[in-house]
Amino acid sequence: MRKVVLYIATSLDGYIAGEDDSLDWLFRVEGEGDNGYSEFYETVDTILMGRKTYDQVLILENGKFPYQNKKCYVFSHTITGSNENVEFVNGDIVSLVNEWKKQEGKNIWIEGGGELLHFFLKEKLVDEIRVTVAPAIIGKGIPLFKKGDYEMDLVLKGIKKYNQFVELQYEVK
Ligand SMILES: NC(=O)c1ccc[n+]([C@@H]2O[C@H](COP(=O)([O-])OP(=O)(O)OC[C@H]3O[C@@H](n4cnc5c(N)ncnc54)[C@H](OP(=O)(O)O)[C@@H]3O)[C@@H](O)[C@H]2O)c1
Repeated sequence: MRKVVLYIATSLDGYIAGEDDSLDWLFRVEGEGDNGYSEFYETVDTILMGRKTYDQVLILENGKFPYQNKKCYVFSHTITGSNENVEFVNGDIVSLVNEWKKQEGKNIWIEGGGELLHFFLKEKLVDEIRVTVAPAIIGKGIPLFKKGDYEMDLVLKGIKKYNQFVELQYEVK
């Protein structure tokens, strides 16, 4: 069965974006090549994101959607339907994701953000976690892991260094 993989960048103090969705702290870091991104990108054919992440992706890419060769689902309670790039989804997410996992294909990337991820973690929908840690402490913002009633035991599968970034790869037990 294909896996749902969280692949995300975080500050050392555990934020995926600053207040006002700022990612300046991330873009300032000197990495190496594309920090393993294209290698990871080849392993997935489906991308899941929250509606706010979708909005931010479009802002960052100046309106040009960057994942045109993948099946993309945007989770939203306020938008339905689809456009040329994404399908908006809501409802019984657990069944939906388990159905996708049973289908043939490459892995499924959960891109974020924090709110959608919180739901996925609570519902135990994530199989693998790959976190790229930026050498920055930003004090406040959107946390990678929100407080909540969930616990997960992980197995460390790998560590990679891309100049100033460290990527930690875990399997969910
Ligand atoms: N550092 C990184 O690698 C990284 C990666 C991804 C995102 N980010 C950042 O994270 C920020 C966005 O994160 P966020 O936590 O604010 O928002 P988010 O999780 O991206 O999106 C939240 C929205 O998703 C929808 N949603 C969430 N849970 C849902 C559910 N169970 N069912 C249906 N819809 C659901 C709702 O949309 P509606 O309001 O439309 O109902 C909700 O308002 C952005 O700044 C982005 O740049 C950073």
